[in-house]
Amino acid sequence: METCEKHIELYKELDKYIENLKGKKGVLINVLHKAQELFGWLPSEVQEYIAEKLNVSPSTVYGVVTFYNFFSTKPKGKNQVKICLGTACYVKGADRVMERFLSELGVSEGEVTKDGKFSVHGVRCLGACSMAPVVLIGEKDFYGKVTPDMVPKIIKKYKEGGE
Ligand code: FES
Repeated sequence: METCEKHIELYKELDKYIENLKGKKGVLINVLHKAQELFGWLPSEVQEYIAEKLNVSPSTVYGVVTFYNFFSTKPKGKNQVKICLGTACYVKGADRVMERFLSELGVSEGEVTKDGKFSVHGVRCLGACSMAPVVLIGEKDFYGKVTPDMVPKIIKKYKEGGE
């Protein structure tokens, strides 16, 4: 991960957060959450930095990061496209929706588009099975009964709306 001014700022903010937790026990998960919120994911440099700051071994940090699936060790796009691959969505063609997203964006699953705007991820049941197949973009944009033909239009919305 390149170190640029923006990243220096992010490290400073992380330092501040750690400073506020000084003296408290069991703060590793909180710090990792904060780091992921700041950086968008947890590159190994950031994990090592946290290990040093909290005086724990890098393998302890790595162990926690890989144990919980809400931590990510890969970069993610600005708009994370989460396609539900749970049973209800799968039987209604979620795999074809996934294929269309991947081919329209020219990426493989988990990869970030060159402009950094999108990454596509298969996820477990999103709890909206009656709307299957379901796609979630970001944290709150739900799309139900999605067909492959709807995919270009959905993508366009985020391309136009993004920077
Ligand atoms: S299986 Fe897709 S929302 Fe439940």
